[in-house]
Amino acid sequence: MKWFSSPVTHISGQIVPPGDKSCSHRAILFASLAKGTSYISGLLEGDDVLRTAAACRQLGANITRTGFGHWTVTGKGGFSQPDAPIDFGNSGTGSRLMMGAMAGYALRAELTGDESLCSRPMNRVLNPLYEMGAKAENAEDGRFPLTLIGSDQLQSIDYTSPVASAQVKSCVLLAGLKAKGTTILREARFTRDHTERMLTGFGVELSQKQDGDGQVVSIEGGQTLKAGDFTVPADPSSAAFLLATALIDPGSDVVIDGHMMNPTRNGFLRMIQKMADVELTYPRTVSGEDVVTVVIKGETGLKACDPPAEIVPAMIDEFPIFAVLAAFAKGETRVTGVEELRVKESDRITATVDMLRVNGVEVEELEDGFVIQGCDGKVPGGGTVEARHDHRIAMSALVMGVKAQKPVSVDDISMIATSYPEFFDHMAQLGADIREG
Ligand code: S3P
Repeated sequence: MKWFSSPVTHISGQIVPPGDKSCSHRAILFASLAKGTSYISGLLEGDDVLRTAAACRQLGANITRTGFGHWTVTGKGGFSQPDAPIDFGNSGTGSRLMMGAMAGYALRAELTGDESLCSRPMNRVLNPLYEMGAKAENAEDGRFPLTLIGSDQLQSIDYTSPVASAQVKSCVLLAGLKAKGTTILREARFTRDHTERMLTGFGVELSQKQDGDGQVVSIEGGQTLKAGDFTVPADPSSAAFLLATALIDPGSDVVIDGHMMNPTRNGFLRMIQKMADVELTYPRTVSGEDVVTVVIKGETGLKACDPPAEIVPAMIDEFPIFAVLAAFAKGETRVTGVEELRVKESDRITATVDMLRVNGVEVEELEDGFVIQGCDGKVPGGGTVEARHDHRIAMSALVMGVKAQKPVSVDDISMIATSYPEFFDHMAQLGADIREG
């Protein structure tokens, strides 16, 4: 059954987006590695995070939900042999971070996921783990399903990440926690730094030194995590769909609360500030993260704007919805240097190009991006978008329908629950008309 998003006349409301997905995975995982009981609030209860919680339970942690977004995690100070295969569903983050954490224990774990996850590259995390002394079986193609064989005798490494990836960085640092000696991770461009910030919050010592546009992170093996309390801030990647909905409606009046200002995550916000009139108020701090309230009051003309290369990691998940804004903007938008999008939940370059094309937008596909001819507010719509097991493609298409000339439909919305279970409620609160048909 398809889902349709039909044009509406007025978008308004005040919304707090759900808990951040990256921080939620890490909160559950780090609390599970600690010895003792941690209390987490604001947790995103999307399928991806629930899979991480289930995996941590299989590895020995005691995890209970005490209320909406409230979770209690009692860790044993490490992981033990799971008695069944671990299924990470759709989640690249859960699987790759957990592989780093599991690698330092003498266990064998069969790892699998859904069709999308089983097509995604795992060599980017397996390669450094092999260098440290972990092994894998059935991993010749570098894809799930495979069996990870950890070791309690890991060696530290000095690793330069070949891709700008917080997942690779986090995997190496988590394995480094259990390795002999100091593990050094070098990244040419700063990627999201939740692992560094949150490990510090869980009592781990690490050093970070800026190096050009990137950094060098060092972590000493043999450290233990201390249980504690953690409040998950709102997810800027989910907020982007609400902000885009407000920006494409000239008469909108929308307030989005708790937007993270972490410079490794606020690239989309920085871009829309160049394209439109966006007000930031009420700066404050939630669990060590600076957050603000974003106010958008009707936008009469979005200006096309090319994202500079250095902003890419800070908005890596926001390109499908950014492309929707570019389609509504006046002028041409050229997005380049985003080849990593080809290995996300779907090939997001092709999926984004097709999403726009079937809705009448002129767009050219590049090897490492796309060029969009903006419609100056008049996106034709009328097309059916293939979601391709990708939550962000499905949500982007439904946002486009809010102000396209004709309804936009999506063939499958099931994946939206992986990251934003409240998406339909929040869009309805803003005045969108999204229904099954
Ligand atoms: C994430 C890192 C990003 C991002 C993903 C979440 C994380 O992936 O796309 O949704 O929480 O570390 P890469 O680090 O592989 O770019």
